[in-house]
Amino acid sequence: MKTEFLSENSAERAAKILKSGGIVAIPTETVYGLAASVYDKNAIKAIFTAKGRPSDNPLIVHISDLKDIENVVSEFPKNAKKLAEKFWPGPLTMIMPKNPKIPKEVTGGLNSVAVRYPSHEVARKIIALAGVPLVAPSANTSGKPSPTKFEHVVNDLNGKVNAIVDGGECAVGLESTVVSTLSDIPKILRPGKISAEDIKSVVGAVEIDKAIFEKPPESEKVLSPGMKYKHYSPDTPIKMVVGDTHRYVNFVNLHGGEDVGALCFDEDIPFLKVPYISYGSANDTSAQSKNLFEALREADKLGVKTLYAHYKETDSLSLAVYNRLVRAAAFNVIKV
Ligand code: TXA
Ligand code: MG
Repeated sequence: MKTEFLSENSAERAAKILKSGGIVAIPTETVYGLAASVYDKNAIKAIFTAKGRPSDNPLIVHISDLKDIENVVSEFPKNAKKLAEKFWPGPLTMIMPKNPKIPKEVTGGLNSVAVRYPSHEVARKIIALAGVPLVAPSANTSGKPSPTKFEHVVNDLNGKVNAIVDGGECAVGLESTVVSTLSDIPKILRPGKISAEDIKSVVGAVEIDKAIFEKPPESEKVLSPGMKYKHYSPDTPIKMVVGDTHRYVNFVNLHGGEDVGALCFDEDIPFLKVPYISYGSANDTSAQSKNLFEALREADKLGVKTLYAHYKETDSLSLAVYNRLVRAAAFNVIKV
């Protein structure tokens, strides 16, 4: 397939391709998404094929106006309404009861549906012009880090999708917070920029799914099917190292040899004796969030056999960074 490269001023063209059954990668404020009409089962199938994604992993439905919600859900729970008022449009996805009009291919057979109202202008324009809600999983090959730049999408999906829209760099850099509003107390299934504290401040209470912290056992039914797959992995095996600058660099230098590299913070750089990539300052979780996926993609270019990734808890965005990193490390965590 020949992939069209579109500029961010080509929303009309992107919408036209979507309307005629194509799949188009589009920028959002979190990461790039691979979009198709929510009602087009063939296009949805093409998304799973292009990504190499397991078909039981459900897709997020993206809207460009709050009034579209009635076609997507069968009920708009009270807490979801409150959260929508505060955080939409923005990097928050809410799980709600599914409207029967939404095909089962979208939700992997679940009775619930994930809904997101992005704040990115180009994304919203494309959804509005397409005239239907759009499904959009992250526009990466399944198992690879989500794309935060046009080039990442081109690397993974050139020749496999109808078009890719270049919207530059994604502002947040990690995927949206996913929160289930199916029970009285909302439950975070995937941490993101909208934090547990943010959600609690609006609805009074929030739970965090234990799968965020623990390696899910193969057999257990997980609430968010995406959590059970190994995620965000570069080819180089990663071990996550938790500790301050001094302890981290000592550990890495001591274990350093030709085959070891560091995925580190800016502050570590002057002391490291091994090849490194930094993903931001230890105290700047916004920078970490924006840079992490690109750093994971770059990590393979270091040509090392083990990568020690530095993690430090700093603020409420740290959980989102931790969640992606611990999965990239397949839950190998070393405390120093
Ligand atoms: O920021 C984002 O959310 C990006 C941009 C493109 O919008 N999209 C994204 O989609 O990250 P994806 O497909 O890569 O991740 C969606 C996650 C998966 O972990 C999936 O299992 C979960 O949301 N999910 C989708 N529908 C669900 C449902 N009905 N119940 C529970 N989890 C669901
Ligand atoms: Mg994804």
